[in-house]
Amino acid sequence: METTIALSEKTQYYLDLEDKYGAHNYHPIPVVLAKGQGVFLWDVDGKRYYDFLSGYSAVNQGHCHPKIIQALVSQAEVLTLTSRAFYNNLLGEYERYITHYFGYDKVLPMNTGVEGGETAIKLARRWGYVKKGIPDNKAKIIFAENNFWGRTMAAISSSTDPSSYSKFGPYMPGFELVPYNNLPALEKALQDPHVAAFMVEPIQGEAGVVVPDEGYLKGVRELCSQYNVLFIADEIQTGLARTGKMLACDHENVRPDILILGKALSGGTLPVSAVLADDEVMMNIKPGEHGSTYGGNPLACRVAMAALEVLKEEKMAEHAEKMGQLLRDELAGLNSPYIATIRGRGLLNAIVIKHENPEAAWDLCLKLKEEGLLAKPTHGDKIRFAPPLVITADQIKECVAIIGKCLQSLG
Ligand SMILES: Cc1ncc(COP(=O)(O)O)c(C=O)c1O
Repeated sequence: METTIALSEKTQYYLDLEDKYGAHNYHPIPVVLAKGQGVFLWDVDGKRYYDFLSGYSAVNQGHCHPKIIQALVSQAEVLTLTSRAFYNNLLGEYERYITHYFGYDKVLPMNTGVEGGETAIKLARRWGYVKKGIPDNKAKIIFAENNFWGRTMAAISSSTDPSSYSKFGPYMPGFELVPYNNLPALEKALQDPHVAAFMVEPIQGEAGVVVPDEGYLKGVRELCSQYNVLFIADEIQTGLARTGKMLACDHENVRPDILILGKALSGGTLPVSAVLADDEVMMNIKPGEHGSTYGGNPLACRVAMAALEVLKEEKMAEHAEKMGQLLRDELAGLNSPYIATIRGRGLLNAIVIKHENPEAAWDLCLKLKEEGLLAKPTHGDKIRFAPPLVITADQIKECVAIIGKCLQSLG
């Protein structure tokens, strides 16, 4: 049985509006947010909360980061969109900036994360036909089980989660699955000469922050090189300082052939994604063969440069590494019988709840909300703890005290 909590009249008003006029494709925690700054969010009644989700890691730099907002507002007053029918004076600057930042020859700008994934797959299939010599329409892409990269038809076609794919078929052909964190299974799949790419999250975010064994990413890199298969890293959730390095792949010093970024690339202000690769992969797509009306718009370019600058200027990766360790240590120190597992890297963390009530994780999130901390369960019993990277040590301790108090009240 789901716990019911008292809601203010104002909150109920907004819940009812969405219920009546919006599609019911989400099940949010019942809180209506109206303002954000740094690690904090405020609801319509003025109550303040710690944000422990960060818009699924889109707000790594903190809500309404002044430098990013300044870039957004000043550019919005001058020029926002030209389409790619014409050149604009920021796209080239941004392309140079981001390719130097991550060390790739070229970037292909898109908007949402899932479009980044779609783009990476198109690039890989094209490379497979043009460079690897895969017979036409035979290219295969391998994915890891329990992956999540969005909700388009292609994304759900690679999903192992029935709530993603069920009753939306028929599905995209040419996709195959291997278990995550399993190099022998991957090697077996890559031996098929029709395989163009392996697309994988360095840490599986939506699956509940599943961290692979040390050496997995290195092994993936080696196997992909050995079998002439592209290694596509989906760093949309793990990238941009979230896990304590600029990229999660940096933990094992591996360089993917195709790197997908999104979310925090705009610091939570706009949908901005990017696909990075070298010329060998990128130059197989010719004018008219891929694109997007908003991709590479001057507003996004200006904001993305500011968002990337902030990560480096404020040393957010190093800070995330330290704060993440502190968070996991403090959570372990709670010694709660209701926490089965604490896992994560940097500030991408999750706990797995152990309780006889199957709704315990949801109930805990409702209690956390009452106590001023916002988090959301994923896949029933897992709760992600991923605050903005600007959180301080004292704030982490205060938040763990809140979590401890709420765990106790689970009873
Ligand atoms: C790893 C990963 N890839 C891709 C996506 C899709 O991004 P978007 O929702 O912006 O399309 C997500 C979203 O949560 C993600 O976590």
